[in-house]
Amino acid sequence: MNNQSIFNEIREKIDIVDLIGEYVPLVQKGRNFFGVCPFHNDTNPSMSVSRDKQIYKCFSCGASGNIFTFIRDYEHMDMKDVLELLAPRAGVTLNTTNIQRKTTKYDKFYEIYNLTNKFYQNNINTKDGMAAKEYLKNRQISEEVIKEFEIGLSLDSMDSLTKVLTKKGYDILTLDKIGLSSNNHDLFINRIMVPIHDISGRVVAFSGRIYNKKSDHKYVNTKETEIFRKGTILYNYHRCKETARRSKYVIVMEGYMDVFRAASVDIKNVVAIMGTALTIEQANLIKKLSNNVYLCLDGDAPGQKAMLSIGEELEKNGLNVKIITLTNNEDPDTYILKYGKEGFEDQVEKAISFSDFKLQSLKKGVNFASDLELSNYVNSVIREASSIEDEIRREIILKKLALETNLSYNTLEKRLNEYLEKRQTKNVVIKELKPNNKLSKYEKAVYGMIYAILTDYKYFKKFQDESLYFVDQKTRYLLMEIEYYYKKFGNIEIPDFYTYLLEKGELLELYNNIINYVDINNISEEAVNDFMSVIRSYNLRLEINRLTEMMKKQTNDLEKAKIAERIKALRIGE
Ligand code: GTP
Ligand code: MN
Repeated sequence: MNNQSIFNEIREKIDIVDLIGEYVPLVQKGRNFFGVCPFHNDTNPSMSVSRDKQIYKCFSCGASGNIFTFIRDYEHMDMKDVLELLAPRAGVTLNTTNIQRKTTKYDKFYEIYNLTNKFYQNNINTKDGMAAKEYLKNRQISEEVIKEFEIGLSLDSMDSLTKVLTKKGYDILTLDKIGLSSNNHDLFINRIMVPIHDISGRVVAFSGRIYNKKSDHKYVNTKETEIFRKGTILYNYHRCKETARRSKYVIVMEGYMDVFRAASVDIKNVVAIMGTALTIEQANLIKKLSNNVYLCLDGDAPGQKAMLSIGEELEKNGLNVKIITLTNNEDPDTYILKYGKEGFEDQVEKAISFSDFKLQSLKKGVNFASDLELSNYVNSVIREASSIEDEIRREIILKKLALETNLSYNTLEKRLNEYLEKRQTKNVVIKELKPNNKLSKYEKAVYGMIYAILTDYKYFKKFQDESLYFVDQKTRYLLMEIEYYYKKFGNIEIPDFYTYLLEKGELLELYNNIINYVDINNISEEAVNDFMSVIRSYNLRLEINRLTEMMKKQTNDLEKAKIAERIKALRIGE
């Protein structure tokens, strides 16, 4: 890697605990910091961040690395973009010539989508776009919003886009494959076009809305393609990252129009689920924006129902969920139009907790005159209450319930305690925050030795002076890389060597195991001597075994005796 030193320089100036702390709340325990790992579905703090080593490691999913891999994986960024993001923070100026982006087989697809997006955006600003502009104006979508969201127009023609793209040299099969045309015909005809970006901000799909004709389909969407997997995308994710993190919460809405409307009153920490259910991947994306999420779907019955299931999914993911209910079947779009920014912000202020929302919805439609319905209702409320941590809130709920149903508080409380007991036994014990420790004595010595060599070159010399070696090939390769790095950079910092190994896949895993296994800050001379003596006798034993085998096969008695001599000599040293 020719830009290793740039990585090292940036790495040196950014503390990993500070950096990760901005994405994941961290709590200090001893020398390390712990937080909920953003790389798998979890609510336990299984990720540890070490200030000494400047690395992180999740004991549950195994994710591990330095500041660069954290940002790369968290933001789904290319390493080049990670560098560009972190360099200013470190006060380092990048020399662009030696940083190159990796090309992938999808580059062409992104390129085509980018061109198509420009084409549509251009169309809406021509004569052909007048009716579309008029429609948007009537809906009070400003020019600013059109620009911000790159809203465009597909022409009223069977093949205008296909022609433009094939003229540029893209083959028709590719256009079919990525969902822009079919049999030489455009798939989007005469619709207002909303580009959909992936989480890294590349256009990967479109949604086209009718505006001047009747149609059974209000929106037509790009099919799933190699670069567009619906369940992994949230509308407006890439634009709202900064604002959502800064404002410390994110609002989830249903559709494009809601997002446009919110943006037009400068509410920008918003994503839209595009009218579907929420996948686990999307829940994880939301978690990356903020731990606090406000659900504000349409006020109609399906919207309310969706909030129950989506809220549940988000809570399972450890998020704090609040619910905004808009009265009279309004959606955020129409609500903001009527009541403005302040009106909507009032609703955000008045949002209720998800458990209150659930309690409210449990009550809906219950016939209190029916004993069966009433007892079902009472049971479901108590079950819900038993999932609430706060004892005072539980008591409030039960008191209300007692009043409402005319049942005695004691009866209700008894039932609550039954549920609480059940819950307790169901709760899983938090995973041990320890790497698994099934290494043999020899492996431990090898790990320790390499760790020592990483911290100080003198141990490398010491190891070599004794002609010791590692039996395992991977370990030997790792040592060779370490030697090379020392020659080039003079010394090794644990996280920098991590960057160096990123392109050497297999070794990375071994390196990971070593640096996460050894938890000593200052390796002592004495410890190194111990590692070396374990390795020495292991090597000796191997050599003795090898010679013994050789001796067995030897037919010449004189040769046999010579080998026996050598074995004897080795045994003394053992
Ligand atoms: P307006 O009707 O113009 O206010 O658009 P909207 O974006 O507010 O749509 P709506 O609230 O009806 O639906 C919410 C979201 O569901 C939309 O933004 C789309 O992502 C999606 N959606 C709605 N209707 C359709 C449809 O007919 N087909 C598809 N594929 N998606 C739709
Ligand atoms: Mn709408």
